[in-house]
Amino acid sequence: MKNIAIFASGGGSNARKIIEHFEGSHHVQVVLVVSNKKDAGVLDIARAHHIPTHLIHRADFYDSKEILSVLDKHKVDLIVLAGFLWLVPGYLIEAFPRKIVNIHPALLPLFGGKGMYGAHVHAAVKAAGMKESGITIHYANEQYDAGDIIFQTTCSLSEEDTPETIARKVLALEHEYFPKVIERVMNDE
Ligand code: GRF
Repeated sequence: MKNIAIFASGGGSNARKIIEHFEGSHHVQVVLVVSNKKDAGVLDIARAHHIPTHLIHRADFYDSKEILSVLDKHKVDLIVLAGFLWLVPGYLIEAFPRKIVNIHPALLPLFGGKGMYGAHVHAAVKAAGMKESGITIHYANEQYDAGDIIFQTTCSLSEEDTPETIARKVLALEHEYFPKVIERVMNDE
C-alpha cells in the first residue's frame, strides 16, 4: 500500500476528491491531512473520512522539522499540496525528492508565483484577456509554483467569462484530473 499525505490550507474540495478517488483502493490510501489553519474546512473533511490530521505552526514547520517525524510515523510516500499556501522548506524537498506534487489553477509558468493564488490568479487571467486557462500539476520545489511540470490541461475562455466563471471552469478540471495524475505518479514510482 502506498501512502499519501495531503497538505491544504483551505476548504479542501480537491482533498475531498482525492480521498474519494482512493477510497476502496488496494494500492493507494490517504493516511494524513496536514493544515496550517486550525479552522480549515479540509480538516473537517479528513475527520469525516476518519483520516488523521496534523496542524502545523510556522516555527515547527520551518525550524523544528517535526513534520518529518509525523510523516515518518504515517509512512508517507507522497505529499500532495492541494491549496497549501506556505512555501515548502528545503529540508522537506530534500526528504521527499520528486515526491511532493502541487496543483496550480493556471497554465504555468504564466500566472504563478508569490501572491498568485485563488481569485488573484483568475482576475489576472481575465485582465490579460486570455482565450484559455487551465491547471498545472508539478513537482514542488523551494519557490512558489516552480518545479518540473507533470501535467497541464486547458479550458477555453470567452469575453463573457468573469474571474468567478473562470474559477469554476478551472476547479472542475482540478477535480477531474488531480486524482488521476496522482495515481499515475504513484504508479510510475
Ligand atoms: C485550488 O484552486 C488549487 O488550484 C489551489 O488552491 C485551491 C484549493 O481549493 N492550489 P480547495 O481547497 O481544494 O477547494
